[in-house]
Amino acid sequence: MATTLSDMLLWLEELGLSVWIRESAYGFSLMVAVHILGLTLSVGILLWVDLRLLGLAMRRVPTEDVYRSLAPWFLAGFALMLASGLSLFAAFATAAYGNFYFRLKMAVLVLAGVNALVYHFMTERRASAESSLAAARWAGGASLVCWLAVIVAGRMMSYTMF
Ligand code: HEM
Repeated sequence: MATTLSDMLLWLEELGLSVWIRESAYGFSLMVAVHILGLTLSVGILLWVDLRLLGLAMRRVPTEDVYRSLAPWFLAGFALMLASGLSLFAAFATAAYGNFYFRLKMAVLVLAGVNALVYHFMTERRASAESSLAAARWAGGASLVCWLAVIVAGRMMSYTMF
């Protein structure tokens, strides 16, 4: 018997954690609270790296020092976002999968990820080269725009999914 996509979404909704998030008194609020805590640890800290890349904050501290000392923290935050986000998705899989803002959010998340990888594997490694200053500024600006869009799309999901 072929497993359809909707079967898989229903299977996610029937997982124990999904039922707890949907039907217990505090499940949903707790998981959204973890999602928002992850947001402060991830985008909240990455914001300072982006402001440094744009030359707007911490200008006396070398960019690579800001980036490398904060990276473990914002990466831990993104792990929390992914775990809590996947749990929230599973709990409302059918509604979230069909939601325009969820799809927009996932698309911009991919863009933000590509921007971060290009910075990490290319621009950051050529930090001394003059040309990388402009590339670093672009990376910082693109990152700010992407994360703002992800957050707005995330909020809009709450208003449009149910
Ligand atoms: C790492 C980047 C992410 C950011 C910055 C982000 C941000 C947000 C924000 C601001 C909200 C609104 C919370 C609220 O209603 O108060 C939200 C909700 C949500 N996010 Fe994320 N999110 C991220 C990753 C993910 C991932 C990877 C998934 C799933 C695959 C996901 C699934 C959801 C779901 C299902 C909701 C709706 C919860 C509700 O109904 O309120 N998120 N997200």
